[in-house]
Amino acid sequence: MDEAHHIAADFADGAAGARLRYHIVTYGCQMNVFDSRRIGQSLRLAGYEETADPVMADVILLNTCSVRDKPEKKVLATLARLRPLKEARPGTVLGVCGCVGQQHGQALLDRVPYLDLVFGPDRVVEAAALVEAARGGARLADVARQSRGDHAFAPVDPEAEPGPTAFLTVMKGCDKVCSYCIVPYVRGREVSKPVALVLDEVRRLVEGGVREVTLLGQNVNAYGKDLACGADFADLLAAIDAVPGLLRLRFVTSHPADADERMLSCFGRLRTVAPYLHLPVQAGSDRVLDRMRRGYTAAEYLDKIAIARRHCPDVALSTDVIVGYPGETREDFEATLRVVEAARYDTMFSFKYSPRPHTAAARLEDDVPEAEKADRLREVQSLQDRIGAERLARFLGRVEEVLVEGPSRAARTRGAGAQWSGRTATNHVVNFAARPGEPPAPGDLVRVRITDVLAHCLAGEPCDGAGGE
Ligand code: 5AD
Ligand code: SF4
Repeated sequence: MDEAHHIAADFADGAAGARLRYHIVTYGCQMNVFDSRRIGQSLRLAGYEETADPVMADVILLNTCSVRDKPEKKVLATLARLRPLKEARPGTVLGVCGCVGQQHGQALLDRVPYLDLVFGPDRVVEAAALVEAARGGARLADVARQSRGDHAFAPVDPEAEPGPTAFLTVMKGCDKVCSYCIVPYVRGREVSKPVALVLDEVRRLVEGGVREVTLLGQNVNAYGKDLACGADFADLLAAIDAVPGLLRLRFVTSHPADADERMLSCFGRLRTVAPYLHLPVQAGSDRVLDRMRRGYTAAEYLDKIAIARRHCPDVALSTDVIVGYPGETREDFEATLRVVEAARYDTMFSFKYSPRPHTAAARLEDDVPEAEKADRLREVQSLQDRIGAERLARFLGRVEEVLVEGPSRAARTRGAGAQWSGRTATNHVVNFAARPGEPPAPGDLVRVRITDVLAHCLAGEPCDGAGGE
């Protein structure tokens, strides 16, 4: 029996509980993780409960990403795998939400006959109503967009946030016109969540035990442009910084063209803002940057980094890089290598260019051969591997404040030792063994002396003053 039929057989045997169950599969960025939690919250309020096992679920939702071709293909493959399960129990609601849902809408329903429901990211607030309609037999696609000026965001449920860290979307959409990017098409225009709403949610999260909040937005630096109150992102950071009990504040993603000194100085200036900046460069050649419509040169980009480092010398930096953009020559690519070398990132996310529908670049010939893209990707990654390792080495012997998240992966999967895991302010993972009889609790700040630098994380031991804030 192949895997699909095996799933179907299990599914047919699955006992139907009194309460309906949902299962959400999340692809893509942190905003999707956040949206999945909101969808789950909406379903729980309607009486559903979550199940980790799709075979047991009455509702299966795939929360999808279309930023590159690969994650989109994955969704179609997963749908095909779920087909026998749906056919074994036709009453199961099978849905696609997120960016692929928004992008294809009704066309996806037409293409996948066993699919019941499609909805876009702006319909998260209505998730339960849509699922109910689908359970009633309707096959529906709802990709209506939230309009500018409509600030109805799905509120966060602090009880749904497991652990001491939480995400919080503060704006959605993107008004930039980067030539390769489908996001403005699928996520729509920028809409900011009003300051009072954000503050209220941060307060409730902190009351519920959250100690670190990561603010999410496609371009957080554009926060407030659509708000009447005149607050910008730096104002929002300052307001959140004053919330008692919050220990750390992070944010992604910043656009280099909009990251000004006022914002970049927050690292040195505000108590909670953690020294971690994700500043996607995308390319190092001015010619490519211009054709990507990024709105900055490599030198201007490196200047922003210099400003951030001037205000906070230890700030950790990460970036996104695209290799093989149409027309990218070897020389252009070498300019990317030079920027990566000069910026000295802690981490990098790198991608082969893939043409996306509805983008300006899709009209250009995708002329860098696949093998060349793969070579460039490997080359930039191996350069970053070296730099990342050098950057990580600076922690050896240092005492870091680690925000404890829970048992380490080794302890969870192998039951090995009292290994705990948390992150430094710079967002580096640290594993450590607690002192006998002094197990930390998630959300504690523990002072840890770093004794080992591993491939992608740090290890250490608690030192005096452990547990203090
Ligand atoms: N091809 C490859 N990478 C892309 N990204 C966005 N669009 C594309 C595309 N068409 C990358 C960018 C962005 C990250 C989220 O995904 O680097 O910052
Ligand atoms: Fe896409 Fe550019 Fe907007 Fe980022 S800033 S989401 S890359 S259009």
